[in-house]
This record gives sequence, structure tokens and C-alpha cells, in this order.
Amino acid sequence: MAWSPDKTEVKSWNEWDTLRHVIVGRADDCHIPPEEPALDAKVPEDSDMRGQWGRRPQETIDRANELLDNFADQLRKRDIKVDRPVSIDHAQPVTTPDFHTDSQFGCMPPRDVLLTVGREMLEATMSYRCRWFEYLNYRPLLKQYWEEDPRFRHEAAPKPRLTDADYHPDYLSEKIGDAKRLEWAAEKFFVTTEEEPLFDAADVLRFGKDLVVQHGFTTNLKGIEWLRRHFPDHRVHTVNFPGDPYPIHIDATFTPLRPGLIVNNPQRRLPEDQREMFNKNGWDIVDAAQPAHNTPPPLCYSSTWLSMNVLVLDPKTVCVEKSEVYQAEQMDKLGMEVVEVELRDAYAFGGGLHCCTADVYRDGDCEDYFP
Ligand code: ARG
Repeated sequence: MAWSPDKTEVKSWNEWDTLRHVIVGRADDCHIPPEEPALDAKVPEDSDMRGQWGRRPQETIDRANELLDNFADQLRKRDIKVDRPVSIDHAQPVTTPDFHTDSQFGCMPPRDVLLTVGREMLEATMSYRCRWFEYLNYRPLLKQYWEEDPRFRHEAAPKPRLTDADYHPDYLSEKIGDAKRLEWAAEKFFVTTEEEPLFDAADVLRFGKDLVVQHGFTTNLKGIEWLRRHFPDHRVHTVNFPGDPYPIHIDATFTPLRPGLIVNNPQRRLPEDQREMFNKNGWDIVDAAQPAHNTPPPLCYSSTWLSMNVLVLDPKTVCVEKSEVYQAEQMDKLGMEVVEVELRDAYAFGGGLHCCTADVYRDGDCEDYFP
């Protein structure tokens, strides 16, 4: 049965089939959280964010919301249904029997928290203490989907304890330096330990029957093993990108555009020994174009490679950030129609066009692209 806007249905098996229904995040009440182990390891050493925390300046929240609202309208004009989360009070501290932190993060970006696999949406464990309750921003939507779609499976991964045992103290020093970080990344020595399963949803890419998961700061091997046991009908693959000194979230590193084609960050190439499934099945992995900017915007966690954090609307159409002219040009050459979306002033809130969305429905079924 074809998708209809009048009926709620959750289903999405990959990153590229025709998008019909999506969640777009909000910048409301976003905070720069206080120091904590996993977050400190990720904030770049030369970042303007080191040492400060609190609610983000209101004018930056307003500007990011303006851009996110416009993006939502652009999608609606293309007949894509758009839902928005309901912000909780992120100034509230997070206290569990195991840890305390003085504030939360925000309801951006949804891609980090919600993993849609087929008819299921899975709330990730998360690995930052400040993001422990972030799923609550999405609960009103998930509750609604559950009530309206009898086939929807709402799942939540076991909440982690996030005691100090979850983090390697080596990563807590102020100045580690990129050389050391790259050495550690090559050895797969990341800030998170193997104390318990940890994963962020944005470390997972969906290729039908195959799930490709980045092992790094936010997802550990036990997290990947947890996903493997949770999705017994899928093949779950672990990947690493040793060129990334701050490996969190796969979507500014490895971006599938359609069956057979992936754009890969040229500073974070997938190692040869992890390419077999793609090579054997005739997939092309091409270097992404250079970002148009030399530096990220102020108070931003991410690198300039949000240039390749694109949202695929269907196998021929892709949303690219408006100022990312080189990335847009490359998409055009790769045969994609480019939809320009202005978002750069929202990057500081946790990411680009792929990050700030979460799939609810895409056409298509679960296919085996790597038989
Ligand atoms: N780690 C990436 C970079 O800085 C940013 C990824 C953001 N993705 C996300 N889903 N929040 O290049």
C-alpha cells in the first residue's frame, strides 16, 4: 500500500529511498553542558567552547530556530510530512544513583538519539551524561506514532550507568594533541571503555539488511554487539576511520547517496581491509568535495566536514547546505539534483542537515544490497 499523509506509518530501511515523513529538531533551550568525561574528549582542543557552559545565547537560538523552521517548510513544500519535538527544560540537572551533571544538551540533533530500522524506532543509550534524558524531547511524538500505527515498535536500549568506569582517564587531560589522538584512534583506543554497551544512533548507517556502525567515542564494541543481538535479521558491520582525531557520529565521514554510491571524507578514508563488502558488490566510494569553510561557526562541536552531512530525499535528490558550494557541485556531477538549504548558523546546535533530522517514513523495503 502506498504511503498516505492521512495515516501515521513508521518505516525506513535505508538512507536514500524516497522520504515521506521526517522529524526536524528544534534549537529551543539548547545548552552548552558542563564538563564531563565523554564531552570533554570531543570538544576540539582549540575550541572557543572549552571552559564555558550554560544556556546558549538567545539570539543564536532564535536564528537556529528560524533556519530549522525554514528547512521544515521547504520539506513540507515537497510534500514531506514534518514533525517537531517538544523541548523539555534542559536547564534541569541530570541526577541518577550513579552520576550528576548540572545541565542537559537540547533537542538537537534528533539523528543522534533515534534510530529508525524498518518499523522500529530505537532510543539509543547515548554516552554523554548530559544527553541521558534527551529521548524525553521525542516521547510525545513516539507516543503518538505508537498510538496511531499498530505496527510501530517503540524500543529503548538499556540506559547505561555512565559512571567513571565508562571513560578512559587518559582522555581527560586538557591538551592531548592531534598526533596522539590519531595514534589512539588508529589503535582503536577511544574515550569510552567497554564497561557496558554504549551507542549513539548517529553512529549507525542503514543499508537495508546491513547496518554499518562506527566504533569511536560515542559507540563502543559492546554497543555494536548489543545492536547485533537486537537486530538478529540484520548483518551489523563495525567500521573505523583512523584519520579522525575526534570520532563521533558517522554522518560527516561516510555518506551513502543511493545504492552503489558512497561519499567518504578524504581525511577519514575507510581502511582497505574494511571495504570488502562494498568492493565485492560494485559500490563506489568516492572522496567528498572539500568544505567551503576553513573553520566551523562559533561554539560548534563539529568540524567543517558538516559540508557532507547531507539529507537524501530520494536516490536522485539531495539537500546540501547553501554555502557548501563545492559539495553541491560534486553532487551535481554525481547526477543528483541539489536542493539548497541554509543551515550553517544552526551547526553549533549539533550538526548539519542529516543530523538535524530523523527518518519516520521512506518508501521501499528491506533489501539485500550486499548478497
Ligand atoms: N563528528 C563530525 C565532525 O565533526 C560531526 C558529526 C555530527 N553528526 C551528528 N549526527 N551530530 O566532523
